[in-house]
Amino acid sequence: MEVFSTIVDVRHALREERRRGRSVAFVPTMGYLHEGHVALMREGRKRANILVVSIFVNPTQFGPSEDLDAYPRDLESDLAKCRGVGAHVVFPPTPAEMYQGTPRTTVTVEGLTQGLCGRSRPTHFQGVTTVVTKLFNIVQPDVAIFGEKDYQQLAVLRQMARDLNTPVEIIGAPTVREPDGLAMSSRNAYLSPDQRQQATVLIRSLRQVHALVAQGEQDVGVLDREVRGLLDQEPDARLDYLSFVHPDTLEPVDTVSAPTRVAMAVFLGPTRLIDNILVTPGAP
Ligand code: PAJ
Repeated sequence: MEVFSTIVDVRHALREERRRGRSVAFVPTMGYLHEGHVALMREGRKRANILVVSIFVNPTQFGPSEDLDAYPRDLESDLAKCRGVGAHVVFPPTPAEMYQGTPRTTVTVEGLTQGLCGRSRPTHFQGVTTVVTKLFNIVQPDVAIFGEKDYQQLAVLRQMARDLNTPVEIIGAPTVREPDGLAMSSRNAYLSPDQRQQATVLIRSLRQVHALVAQGEQDVGVLDREVRGLLDQEPDARLDYLSFVHPDTLEPVDTVSAPTRVAMAVFLGPTRLIDNILVTPGAP
């Protein structure tokens, strides 16, 4: 495994691999890697000859009052995990390397970025789409793997690659969970033991919606009330949003009469967690 912190070095190494006819899979991350990231990396190993992982806490996707400075970092442990999975190239650039001079160009995906997380994080997705475009231009991967845990991000990046004719196949990988169902996230490290217990309310809510839909409930108002009831039982939990959306367009639906993504964000104290599942009417 090679670790390159400069764009020039990554480009050089990958140009050589491509010249030898090797395909490239790419997993972009913000580090503090966990089993969710590891699953994406394994998928990348399966889908191409060379696996490239980037580790970059991207400042432009954090809002002014968000957790950029506090975001957990542990490069040594991250590199050990990358090595364990058999990554070939790791790219942990500095912010100065990624953002040279005064950038005047951004990438914006309209519509898909307005609802769900876009409502409470209005500048977030422009930061994500811009940095992922830059990373795609640096790595030039054949395939890139993203987690369904960040479902809106996955949908936005698929749309972006389609709209810009980026020659990359975007792959979505299922959410990896703790034994009690909590979706793995670098931000889980912020939770107190008590908040950690309460955090299972996200997956309990989503599973309750799943069960009710399987029993025939289709009214989003009824499902929404059910979830709010569960959240009321957790003293530190505050709902940011609960949305029922079309899986591709992310347009809200009133009735679960077709496969629907149920997505939510919940604050536990200051920490904001997200999760989502697919529900299909009548399906067990
Ligand atoms: P980060 O939060 O580090 O996540 C990197 C990738 O890991 C994303 O594709 C995310 O969806 C995936 N992931 C996180 N938790 C997961 C889990 N429990 N199961 C499966 N996959 C999971 O997402 C970002 O970084 C950034 O926005 C980035 C795309 C790197 C751009 O800066």
